[in-house]
Amino acid sequence: MKDISVFRLKLFACLALLSASSAMAADIASAGPQFNDKGELIRLEDYRGWVFLNSALGLTYGPNRPPAGAPQVFTSVFVNPRAYAEFQKSGLWPDGTIFALDIRPGIAPASALEGARTQGPRVALEVAVRDSSRYPDGGWSYFSFDGPRESGGALLATAAPLPRTAGCYACHQKHGAVQWTFTQFYADAFERAKQLGTVNKDFDPARKIEEAGH
Ligand code: HEC
Repeated sequence: MKDISVFRLKLFACLALLSASSAMAADIASAGPQFNDKGELIRLEDYRGWVFLNSALGLTYGPNRPPAGAPQVFTSVFVNPRAYAEFQKSGLWPDGTIFALDIRPGIAPASALEGARTQGPRVALEVAVRDSSRYPDGGWSYFSFDGPRESGGALLATAAPLPRTAGCYACHQKHGAVQWTFTQFYADAFERAKQLGTVNKDFDPARKIEEAGH
C-alpha cells in the first residue's frame, strides 16, 4: 500500500515536471530568438500564434512576385509578444525582437465572389532579428528559411545570418519608418510610433520602393 502511494507521488512529480518544462519551452520560443552554437537561428515553430501585424497583398517585387495575370501574393507579418509589449511602451522594437514574414500565394476559390482571394500554402519564411550586441552594425540581422524551390515550400531547420551585402539590409534601412522595419505598413503599430515620436526623421511616406524585394 505504502509502495503504491510513493509510486503515485513519484509519478505525479514526474508529470508535473514534464508539463512545466514543455510550457517553458513554448514560452522561451515565443520570448526571444534561439541560436545554435554556429550562430544560426533556429526555425520558429509557433510564430503564427504571435502578434499579427498585417497581411499585405501585392507587396512582393522580387523572387516571390507572381507572373503577370496570376493572383497577387500575401505577405503576413508576425512579431513575438514580448517585443510587441515593449513596443507599446517605447515605440521602438527592442533587442530580442523577432519578425516573421510569411509568404503565401493568393488563391481564387471557385466558390467565392469574383476577385476574392484567400491564402494558399506557405512558399517562403523570412525573418528579422534585433540584437544590438550580436549585430553591432545597425542592430538587425536578416534570415531566410526558404529551402530549394523544388522542395515545394519545405523550410530549412536553421538559417545563418544573411551577409551584410544582401539586399535586405539596404532596403530596410533606407525605406523602413521605425528603425529598419516597415512599421509604416502595420497600421496600429504605426499609430503608436507616431504617438511616441519614434518614426525615423528622414522617413518620407511618398518615397517609392523601387529596388527588388521579397
Ligand atoms: C526592396 C525592399 C526590400 C528588400 C530588398 C527586402 N525587404 Fe523585407 N520588407 C520590405 C517591405 C516593403 C516589407 C513590408 C511588409 C510586407 O511585405 O507586408 C518588408 C518586411 C519584412 C519583414 C517584416 C519585418 C519588417 O522589417 O517590417 C521581414 C522579416 C523581412 N522583410 C525580411 C527580409 C529579408 C530576410 C530580406 C532579404 C532576403 C528582405 N526582407 C529584403 C521590403 C524589402
